[in-house]
Amino acid sequence: MPGYYEIEESAKRIQKILPVTGDLAVVLGSGLSPFADRLTETKALEYSEIPNFPVSTVEGHRGRLVTGNFSGKPILVMQGRFHLYEGYSAKQVVFPIRVLRALGIKKLLLTNAAGAVNTAYAPGDLMLITDHLNCTGQNPLTGANDERLGSRFPDLTEVYSARIRKIFVDAASAEKIPLRQGVYIAVPGPAYETPAEIKMYRILGADACGMSTVPEAIAARHIGLETAGLSCITNMGAGILTGNLSHDEVTHTAGNVMDAFVRLMHRAIAQM
Ligand code: HPA
Repeated sequence: MPGYYEIEESAKRIQKILPVTGDLAVVLGSGLSPFADRLTETKALEYSEIPNFPVSTVEGHRGRLVTGNFSGKPILVMQGRFHLYEGYSAKQVVFPIRVLRALGIKKLLLTNAAGAVNTAYAPGDLMLITDHLNCTGQNPLTGANDERLGSRFPDLTEVYSARIRKIFVDAASAEKIPLRQGVYIAVPGPAYETPAEIKMYRILGADACGMSTVPEAIAARHIGLETAGLSCITNMGAGILTGNLSHDEVTHTAGNVMDAFVRLMHRAIAQM
């Protein structure tokens, strides 16, 4: 199991090949990889070149780190992430987040593709995550706690920074981009949900549902990163509309919202 030594080792290798100068990192979700093309003066490093890093096995997830400038700032982008459904443990899923901190990252923006649980939402909507429900059945902090990372019992009252959320709400309003705000429920996947499950998640208070982000957000809070989450609603949850769900639909819709996503990110990151 990768621990503190491995985190430092990975960070050292990355700094050697891909110097990280900024303090902001963005994790790109399914179908959102093209965001990295909007950076200038980019440099990239494949995950396979980084010791201890897992490799991304999902279509629509590239599997590399990219540095570059965006909105006048040096940023680091994770083009592709790791999911529990790939068979990785929760600790492996959050390993890169811990490496980010070792690289000097202080602010983290987690993005994802998600299904709408809230029936008022529509595919193509963007949703700022206000809070989450962890229904993965796992927690990345299970097991021995390394105090060099964070405390045994971290507080999750404000996982998603109120300061960054306000920046996003103001940026969306300035760009005239409708922005939902809601609760994200993380589920294990990889099967999409049944209509009965989507109904249950709605009763539990979820607005959107997906298979990522929450383990990373918990680990980020644990190590003291200021964190925000942005969901691209790619489809209605199972049973809300007729028809079946597919990964193609998810990546296709994410591609269609890219322009609004980039505009929102541009204005928000300038303020972060
Ligand atoms: N369910 C779970 N994860 C998802 C969905 C969904 O409907 N859409 C995109 N990621």
